[in-house]
Amino acid sequence: MSFTIVEQAPARLNRSELAVPGSNPKLFEKAAASAADVVFLDLEDAVAPDDKEQARKNVIEAVNDIDWGSKTLSLRINGLDTHYMYRDVVDVLEQTGGRLDLIMIPKVGTAADVYAVDMLVTQIEDAKGRDKRIGFEHIIETALGMANVDEIARASKRNESLHFGVADYAASTKARTTVIGGPNALYGVLTDKDGDKPRDYHWGDMWHYAVARMVVACRATGLRPIDGPFGDFSDPDGFVAQANRAAVLGCEGKWAIHPSQIALANEVNSPSEAEVTKAKRILEAMEQAQKEGKGAVALDGRLIDIASIKQAEVLVKKAEQIAAAG
Ligand code: GLV
Ligand code: MG
Repeated sequence: MSFTIVEQAPARLNRSELAVPGSNPKLFEKAAASAADVVFLDLEDAVAPDDKEQARKNVIEAVNDIDWGSKTLSLRINGLDTHYMYRDVVDVLEQTGGRLDLIMIPKVGTAADVYAVDMLVTQIEDAKGRDKRIGFEHIIETALGMANVDEIARASKRNESLHFGVADYAASTKARTTVIGGPNALYGVLTDKDGDKPRDYHWGDMWHYAVARMVVACRATGLRPIDGPFGDFSDPDGFVAQANRAAVLGCEGKWAIHPSQIALANEVNSPSEAEVTKAKRILEAMEQAQKEGKGAVALDGRLIDIASIKQAEVLVKKAEQIAAAG
């Protein structure tokens, strides 16, 4: 282990993160009653320019008046390149009590972007005597943000998570796709022309690098990596496949842009009973091994060692968090 200790962000469940447009208050109560771990009220891209001011007012009312239960509540502000953003932060923080947990910063490009919002939030918290410190979640969704992902991850003590915003990322990198998330038939490999016939074409995951890169930046800094939207809400199988491949790479949650995606995201990002039972057996076997002075032992015909303890502990801790959330 390095001498550098990686401090972990507060342990929040973040299996599903529901996007709720601030311009559509009819959806707020439903979101509060949903099974989403995190709800973000959106003032950014789901809200048309003419609706921005009203959406901000709706959100202020919703934060103050709706019973959000034990949910983590977040606010997606507008980008730092707009004139809406300062009022999003100032009005919402000045006019709401302590219920809001997080601010989500979209299209973050540099550590200085995070610093700027941190400065503003810190001043408001001090001036208004808000004693609950607001955390930050950042959407990595531009080429600039991805190029600076490590410095963004380290830019503030408020940072809790990074999110892969596939729609804007595709636009920013000029990727050849028009869907939100999911595979692209043009991204694949054809088996060798001298190999077995007929030749096979294997689809690949065009987002692999981006998600894996963001996961590394998160895990090196103690933040939660979260996979962003999957646009086709009439394709639950496609959603689950995308969520699974992000989870396999280390993401611990995925956005839901439609209520039907919440249960799917929760399911994919919760360890199964079999996984938890196996993890507990690994911990027991390693405890026994350590008592006997051994660093590695065999369990079910496979080698397990000290690294297996850490993996098993992560799983068991996640299961405990889920059980505690009821
Ligand atoms: C999310 O904001 C995205 O652009 O995918
Ligand atoms: Mg976006």
